[in-house]
Amino acid sequence: MITKVVPGLLIAAQDGDGVAKEASARMGRIIRDAIGRSGVANIALSGGDTPRAAYARLAKEEGIFWNKVRVFWVDERAVAPTDDRSNYKHAKESLIDPAKIAADHVHRMPADAKDLDAAAREYEALLKKHVAAGKHGAPQLDLVVLGIGEDGHTASLFPGLPTIDITDRFVAAVPAHDNLEPRLTLTVPVIEETRNAIVLAVGSKKAAPLEKVWATSGDVHKTPARIVRDVRGSLAWLIDKAAGGIG
Ligand code: 6PG
Repeated sequence: MITKVVPGLLIAAQDGDGVAKEASARMGRIIRDAIGRSGVANIALSGGDTPRAAYARLAKEEGIFWNKVRVFWVDERAVAPTDDRSNYKHAKESLIDPAKIAADHVHRMPADAKDLDAAAREYEALLKKHVAAGKHGAPQLDLVVLGIGEDGHTASLFPGLPTIDITDRFVAAVPAHDNLEPRLTLTVPVIEETRNAIVLAVGSKKAAPLEKVWATSGDVHKTPARIVRDVRGSLAWLIDKAAGGIG
């Protein structure tokens, strides 16, 4: 049961389908508004299982000029773009191909590069080239889609790893740990600077980490998703009843 004061807007749906529906409508609105305001929408996508249904619905949202949308990633795993663990692969199948987003507007994170630090720097340069800086100096994306792990991670900011403390880079290499492959991730300054953040959480396994994120005090090193509380733009949590500990 939700017992905390949730930072930002909380939208609770009955189930995963309801979350996907709310999420795609909200993402669509944010994208349309950004294009209306500045002529372009720069969005960054998370991977994992949860957002796929929302991406598939987003591809069908009406009134989005997809040729004005640039797609970046929040994080990526060190696997080939065809690998089933690739965040790019799933976004391509659910959103990019169905919406027919042009290849030169799709910026996969090259986390399968041999030199991951160099790849992080290149991706940072790419972000800076396409996305103007916000007030606090980081590229200001129009939309960042996030998830939350059972261990309290978000993006590829994992508990116990120093990536969470990086403030002088916008993209970072994440070493292999806990049987997970190395990764690339956006860093905290970029996530905080976004105009809009949407966090998706579906299923009862997300209830405990959400409670820790929403608790008034806590340690970002233990529950990195707590950094989302500091997003300066709009913040919405789209969860199902099970993730909210209800029913
Ligand atoms: C990744 C993600 C990650 C994800 C959470 C939730 O590449 O692993 O971007 O941060 O959002 O792990 O994943 P699920 O949606 O699969 O639960």
